[in-house]
Amino acid sequence: MQTQVAIIGAGPAGLLLSHLLHLRGISSVVVERRSRDYVEQRVRAGVLEQGTVDMLVESGVGSRLLKEGLRHEGIELRYGDRAHRVAFEDLVPGRAITVYGQQEVVKDLIAARLEAGGDIRFGVQDVALHGIDGERPYVTFGGERLDCEVIAGCDGFHGISRPSVPEGVLTAYEREYPFAWLGVLARVEPSADELIYAFTERGFALHSMRSPTVSRFYLQVPVGTRVEEWPDERIWSELRTRLETVEGFTLATGEIFERGLTPMRSFVVEPMQYGRLYLAGDAAHIVPPTGAKGMNLAVADVRVLDRALGAFFEDGSTALLNGYSEACLKRVWRAQHFSWWMTTLLHTFDSDDAYGRRLQLSHLDYVASSRAAATTLAENYVGLPW
Ligand code: FAD
Ligand code: DHB
Repeated sequence: MQTQVAIIGAGPAGLLLSHLLHLRGISSVVVERRSRDYVEQRVRAGVLEQGTVDMLVESGVGSRLLKEGLRHEGIELRYGDRAHRVAFEDLVPGRAITVYGQQEVVKDLIAARLEAGGDIRFGVQDVALHGIDGERPYVTFGGERLDCEVIAGCDGFHGISRPSVPEGVLTAYEREYPFAWLGVLARVEPSADELIYAFTERGFALHSMRSPTVSRFYLQVPVGTRVEEWPDERIWSELRTRLETVEGFTLATGEIFERGLTPMRSFVVEPMQYGRLYLAGDAAHIVPPTGAKGMNLAVADVRVLDRALGAFFEDGSTALLNGYSEACLKRVWRAQHFSWWMTTLLHTFDSDDAYGRRLQLSHLDYVASSRAAATTLAENYVGLPW
């Protein structure tokens, strides 16, 4: 079997790359370890930056997103007995975020690829990368061989692409956090029109949503917590304690139908390429979810890689491909800083003393009272220009 670009992983990065390459007339095969059903049901991100939305719409996969996505022009920061709205329409006019589940993006991209005759291999075993330091790399899986000119490693943090690079080539930068997020989906109308990021003495809580009838919540929990330790009653009680802190706000409750734990980590490898292998998305970098940046960064990488591959297959020019990593890493590190900043601003750290807590409150007060500080949050949150 032969293709121009072998893409490892059918997450947002791999599927979008395959779609964009197709629009350029470049062939690809996507090789995915999980079943189609699994990747379409996996509940993860929910916040799309303006640029991500624009890109999906412009490339022809945004019609359901435009219909069902919820455009938000602000978020609320809640702490003590205060509620402060960060107003995007005032601070960063014309830019907003759209709430639309990652698995919906994945469904839309899979549908578009299959409709266009795209080749996605779901449920393949034993994927291995070969010859990435030469000009004829290939991928093997389940007894098959896929010859190609370039490999795109879009297989997430636990994938096979990054570990296929010889030892000593990549440098990893990493930070782990002493807590995780317990995320749930509940069949209940959202209790507020916008997202609420809440900082409390008991830890962080986030009120989000998926639709007018489905709410999404996250709770900061200790590392090592098991989902079984959180029956519905405990989840609702903790959400109420952390969110019902301002006058007149009551949390509506309903049936919880999905729950999961997310460890919190910051991670980057440099460079994001080796030979004919290019890493994109979570395969190259991870952020803690507080800033809602992970999927958006994956899309930003793919935008750069698609253009570089376009130039390469058009006339053999390698300048953009050679500069791929450098072009991506500027945005990657901005998002790393923003995600770390949002995380330290809004979570409780066991190691913090009373002094540290006071610093956090002062920082929150600053964001709530200074237009400059609020603009910093807003412009990063909606996404800096490409
Ligand atoms: P993935 O989505 O991880 O896709 C990689 C694919 O590769 C998977 O389908 C996997 O099965 C496959 N794979 C793995 N190993 C192999 C192998 N050996 N062979 C073949 N295939 C393989 N981001 C945002 O932008 N906004 C948010 O609001 C947001 N919230 C989040 C909330 C939570 C709770 C979590 C967990 C994440 C959140 N993120 C958010 C991050 C976002 O989900 C990820 O950054 C995004 O999924 C990255 O996409 P990707 O395509 O790079 O990787
Ligand atoms: C969601 C996830 C995030 O990481 C975030 O910061 C905001 C919302 C969500 O899944 O809705």
